[in-house]
Amino acid sequence: MSGDKKYSVVVVGLGKRGMHHAEAFANNGRFEIVGLCDIDKERLNAAANKFGGPKTATDAKALMQGLKPDVFCFCTMPTLRLEMIRMGVESGASLIAYEKPIAMTTNEALEVMKVVRDAGVKTVVSHQHRYGEHYQKVKEIISSGAIGRVHTVYGTATGWMMHMMTHLIEYIRWFNDNAEAEWVVGQAAGKEKFSDNHPSPDYVAGLIQFANGVRGIVESGDGAPDVPEVDYWWRKCRIGAQGTEGFAEVLTGGGWRAITKDSGGVISGPGCMDYAHDMPPYIQEIADWLDDPKKVHPCNGESAYKGFEIMMAICRSAVQRGKINLPLGPGEPELEALEKALPG
Ligand SMILES: NC(=O)c1ccc[n+]([C@@H]2O[C@H](COP(=O)([O-])OP(=O)(O)OC[C@H]3O[C@@H](n4cnc5c(N)ncnc54)[C@H](O)[C@@H]3O)[C@@H](O)[C@H]2O)c1
Repeated sequence: MSGDKKYSVVVVGLGKRGMHHAEAFANNGRFEIVGLCDIDKERLNAAANKFGGPKTATDAKALMQGLKPDVFCFCTMPTLRLEMIRMGVESGASLIAYEKPIAMTTNEALEVMKVVRDAGVKTVVSHQHRYGEHYQKVKEIISSGAIGRVHTVYGTATGWMMHMMTHLIEYIRWFNDNAEAEWVVGQAAGKEKFSDNHPSPDYVAGLIQFANGVRGIVESGDGAPDVPEVDYWWRKCRIGAQGTEGFAEVLTGGGWRAITKDSGGVISGPGCMDYAHDMPPYIQEIADWLDDPKKVHPCNGESAYKGFEIMMAICRSAVQRGKINLPLGPGEPELEALEKALPG
């Protein structure tokens, strides 16, 4: 398709992330916002004023009557996924852009993937931290071979699982060239956060065996290591790779650092997760993928599914004990099973 076609966009859910998305679509000449929706009228009106008065509704189904956007974007809480995916597919959209995590259970995620695959609809999931200059630098160092053969990739976040863990897994999979995961072992503790709008165990840890022999280690929540170099609590994430000749890691709120075979000591550089920096290229690559099917978006939904699957396998392991082999089939809803299984 030509590089100057304008793609029409509907954005549903105009909270923090919906507004980030709407802003980035509005600022990119390749897109035109044709519809906006939020159940909160004030938010909806404010957004409509800001983005040139497109069609609006407080009910997404009503909004979609007669609108056939190229891109259906929704940024609602994690409990609202499958219904929105179906709505996007039924609207005839070519691409659905949505927020992590992709579902609440494996059963739901399998259904989401079936619906979009059957319809041939592209999906993009907002694991956009990778656009940070510090994330890019770490990837570049690892890919250059400067830390030798990678044997371990790791990611930790003090933020809890349903907020943070698919981010961690997405980036360690990237640092490990998206190798397939074969099995995981997991453990979890604490039930306070099951009542949150991102229901999670308070702490969760997982070991991942990748098919290329690399070990993955992930931890999320209350008990994950602090990153004292970073002040902003949500950005206390440390994600990196160790190789035979060094290491390279990114601190979400505090730049990058590495030792490579030639660095003669620690080298480091700047970078801090910043929506204003990361959203424009994330949105541009949606246009690129729509223009050219070969330019698959780095945050494509198939990759997000792989990360979600690993996270759910870690939960299953904490419930069932032992190794959980991938790929996963349908099963008991993981969060409910975990809440039942964890002590007090
Ligand atoms: N990628 C990231 O860096 C990042 C950062 C923060 C949050 N998130 C994710 O983004 C998602 C949304 O988080 P948020 O912080 O923007 O939440 P938010 O509460 O600020 O926004 C959600 C919006 O959805 C609206 N909404 C709820 N039900 C609706 C419905 N049926 N129809 C239309 N609108 C509806 C709400 O009124 C609200 O305005 C979550 O899944 C969260 O995990 C991602």
